[in-house]
Amino acid sequence: LSEENQSVLAAYEWLTKLYHHLLRFTKDGKEGYNYFKQRGISEETADIFQLGFAPNDNDFTAEFLKKKGFHQQLLVKAGLVSLQEDNKVTDRFRGRIIFPIRNHLGKTIAFGGRTISNGEPKYLNSSESELFQKGKLLYNFDLAKKHIRKSSEAVLFEGYMDVISAYQAGVKNAIATLGTSLTTNQAKLLKRYVDTVIICYDGDDAGIEATYKASSILKETGCHVKIARLSDGMDPDDYINAHGDIAFQNDVIKASETYISFYMRYIKRSYNLNLEDDRFKYIAAILKELAMIDSSIEREYYLKEISNEHNITIETLKQEMHTHRKEVE
Ligand code: GTP
Ligand code: MN
Ligand code: MN
Ligand code: MN
Ligand code: MN
Repeated sequence: LSEENQSVLAAYEWLTKLYHHLLRFTKDGKEGYNYFKQRGISEETADIFQLGFAPNDNDFTAEFLKKKGFHQQLLVKAGLVSLQEDNKVTDRFRGRIIFPIRNHLGKTIAFGGRTISNGEPKYLNSSESELFQKGKLLYNFDLAKKHIRKSSEAVLFEGYMDVISAYQAGVKNAIATLGTSLTTNQAKLLKRYVDTVIICYDGDDAGIEATYKASSILKETGCHVKIARLSDGMDPDDYINAHGDIAFQNDVIKASETYISFYMRYIKRSYNLNLEDDRFKYIAAILKELAMIDSSIEREYYLKEISNEHNITIETLKQEMHTHRKEVE
């Protein structure tokens, strides 16, 4: 690590402690404390994730770090302050709750900051740097790693609050991409530790679309994929707050569906099954996907389902599927 990057890490370490201290123990951080409390985050969880609060002040952070001996230029480079035209600096995080983003060794390399007053943008991250590249990092991987290893499973979420709520609810193998699509790089990292990835994205249209994309990348990388379903529009954090920890563990995570079940629902949306032509295309698409499944029992199970639903004999479906199966074998 370059000397400069070591200083960046040191600056983040100071700030992580400072913001967390403000949140937990001071009047200046009370707004942030109350916000997390109202969202059901316990003090213990706040301590584990080092959640914090950055005061609503233009140069609180810049001044603090200056006193600690950090140079302005370095702070700009670290994505913590921005330089104004008059050569003065402005803090990047003002009046936001702070989520330290840790690298896989547990060192803070960036912050996510959420508005607590409907400001825009809702979330603001440190700008990317040599140390912080979103596409190479999984949020909470450092804490989740041992749980992921033990179960050979990871649960993948969209955001910070989902991971933190899930962890608090006892789902500790929780990780997230930070609002961006999963990259091949991240999938490969996971593959080293898991057999199966359970995708638990938001239950809205964007979440379903992102689930399909992430599945494709994970499957290409050789991970098995399962999908945890949430009712319309809810996200995992909403669900936990509405239904509790046990319901989340049992009815969402343990009850996650196979990829093929998800896929059948997913592509149904692109066809009008009242049209014969569309119905054939729909069945063909599913057969192609079924052909990729290794277990013949599983293949047979879904063939039967399609056979019943569309009144086509299993033999015919099987024949068609085998033309695709040859491509796999
Ligand atoms: P809450 O409203 O606090 O529950 O957040 P959420 O996690 O449910 O937010 P959402 O589902 O909208 O987004 C999921 C993730 O995408 C967040 O955790 C962020 O990492 C990221 N994200 C959301 N909004 C923004 C934004 O405005 N800017 C950036 N850079 N990232 C965002
Ligand atoms: Mn000031
Ligand atoms: Mn969303
Ligand atoms: Mn969400
Ligand atoms: Mn949410």
